[in-house]
Amino acid sequence: MEETVDILDAVPAFDAPEKGRLTDAMVAAYHEAGVLVLRDFVPVEACRKLQQRAHELVAEFDPADVRSVFSTTKQTQLDDSYFIDSGDKIRFFLEDGAFDEQGQLRQSKEHCLNKMGHAMHDLDPVFDAFSRTPDLAEAARRIGFADPAILQSMYIFKPPHIGGEVVCHQDSTYIYTEPESCIGFWFALEDATLENGCMHFIPGGHRFPLRKRNYRNAEGKLVTETLDDTPWPEERKVAAEAAAGTLVIFDGRMPHLSAANRSSKSRHAYTLHVIDRQCRYPENNWLQRSDTLPLRGFG
Ligand code: FE2
Repeated sequence: MEETVDILDAVPAFDAPEKGRLTDAMVAAYHEAGVLVLRDFVPVEACRKLQQRAHELVAEFDPADVRSVFSTTKQTQLDDSYFIDSGDKIRFFLEDGAFDEQGQLRQSKEHCLNKMGHAMHDLDPVFDAFSRTPDLAEAARRIGFADPAILQSMYIFKPPHIGGEVVCHQDSTYIYTEPESCIGFWFALEDATLENGCMHFIPGGHRFPLRKRNYRNAEGKLVTETLDDTPWPEERKVAAEAAAGTLVIFDGRMPHLSAANRSSKSRHAYTLHVIDRQCRYPENNWLQRSDTLPLRGFG
């Protein structure tokens, strides 16, 4: 029952341990809160290198290719297939406010992007190197993964002025396995602050039931199944400001959100969603990969 969930007042935060060797206290804090902040997990130079590579990939992207897809904020069949087919590709997703009334981009191409996804970690050497380090493998092992598989990667741009709000949700809604096994590894590539739309969590909220199962593929159309419509206790949300290089690990059931970015600074972040390979992966999950791109862990 929801009333028995013990909401905490803080997001546990630590300086990153040597070689990803989370201490018993860190692991306990993670299980208690459902979220764990590790400062300076990644060198800032590695963040810059990933940003530079993202910049190069963006340079090769032509927004005209997807303009029609995003001509409306309403979900369409075309939206769905562009999204559904991105599980084993590198695709670009624009912010809702990217185009002005004349159909022109409001600001530079990079500053109109919402995200890039969802297989950079398997298709691009620079993203692969960032995503698979001994430190990360060790952290995942200590969190409890026996047989991790990096299912998807997302590069989040959260651009200045038009970076969209992300409403409160659980990632297991989108990354569903039986039993649930999704854990998010979120890296701040730039300082994430209250001003530019940092993440917020409801610590302890990972004990809430799964509210929805989103993006279930029903014959090519994405549908959402509501399992529990209890409102989130958003008054208990806690901001997790994070300097570049910070890693935030959070449970797939952890409710989280971020405000719109109305500031003049971008808020680049990189996320890996990791599942346990031993869990069942439903065939009607939106994200399906071709057999030629096998799932890999951190090794
Ligand atoms: Fe999320």
